[in-house]
Amino acid sequence: MKRDFLKLRDFSLGEHLELLKRTTELKQLRRLRKTVTTLAGRALVLIFEKSSTRTRVSFELAMTQLGGDALTLPVSDSQLARGEPLSDTARVLSRYGDAIMVRTFGEERLHAFAKHSTVPVINGLTDQGHPVQLLADLYTIGERLGELQGRKVAFIGDGVGNMARSWMEAAGLFGLHLHLASPKKFRPSVQEAEVLGGGRVKLFDNPQEACQGVEVVTTDVWTSMGQDAEQALRKEAFGGYCVDEEMLSHARPEAFVLHCLPAHRGEEISAAVLEGPRSAVWDEAENRLHVQKALLEKLILEAEKEA
Ligand code: CP
Ligand code: NVA
Repeated sequence: MKRDFLKLRDFSLGEHLELLKRTTELKQLRRLRKTVTTLAGRALVLIFEKSSTRTRVSFELAMTQLGGDALTLPVSDSQLARGEPLSDTARVLSRYGDAIMVRTFGEERLHAFAKHSTVPVINGLTDQGHPVQLLADLYTIGERLGELQGRKVAFIGDGVGNMARSWMEAAGLFGLHLHLASPKKFRPSVQEAEVLGGGRVKLFDNPQEACQGVEVVTTDVWTSMGQDAEQALRKEAFGGYCVDEEMLSHARPEAFVLHCLPAHRGEEISAAVLEGPRSAVWDEAENRLHVQKALLEKLILEAEKEA
């Protein structure tokens, strides 16, 4: 039976910790420019219904650096754009590749794809989550701080977006303490935070208060892909939620900053923080490559073992 990676909880905590451990090995091998061929003869197909820089390049190179092939299907001139059902596309692409990464809008499209695919499907971002980004974020925290359990993280900004939702899921799974500060209109309900975060999420109105005592401060764009019509409304609602030096002064003195990128300097994060000594965002972006290699190995090789 093939397994998909559609959300963080598709893996147990033990599996996640194994994956993070393998990431360290793969990162070291890359540093040494050692040839790795664990996925020789295998192929990854990537489908993007939204824009991407990091996800596309890191997945394509992850696959080729493991000895495999990667191919991105340009959706706009595929038959998907002319109405061919996702179910037919999924079945056909499963005959060509050994795994499929999908970036799309509603999660139902991802699930429909996974249902009809006979090879592992990876969530490359939906409106509701961005689990592969969280793998890199968690790895980056572990790289700097060691054990993840009990770490205190503040998420400042869009509390109902894909990044915040995946952070809540990560908090529940890894035992983080997540302080989530958002304007009321963009804050999850207490019940939603409880369900996603398993009691590990505390909701705040005041972002400075949310930063108190935390070791990591993170944020995301105020207007995600597909929400462009709400840009003006969101810009107004998120005033006061910029991660700048003043905001960071409320966190622990050694606290560092994560951002999935792309960033909007002067909106959710100041240029000084993004470029400053407390920014871990470039390591975080690099870690996408290493952690996704571990993910591809796990999904593809396990599916073969069980076939
Ligand atoms: N962080 C991230 O997923 O970036 P891209 O949109 O460039 O892939
Ligand atoms: N929340 C952002 C993340 C981009 C990687 C978006 O969906 O546009």
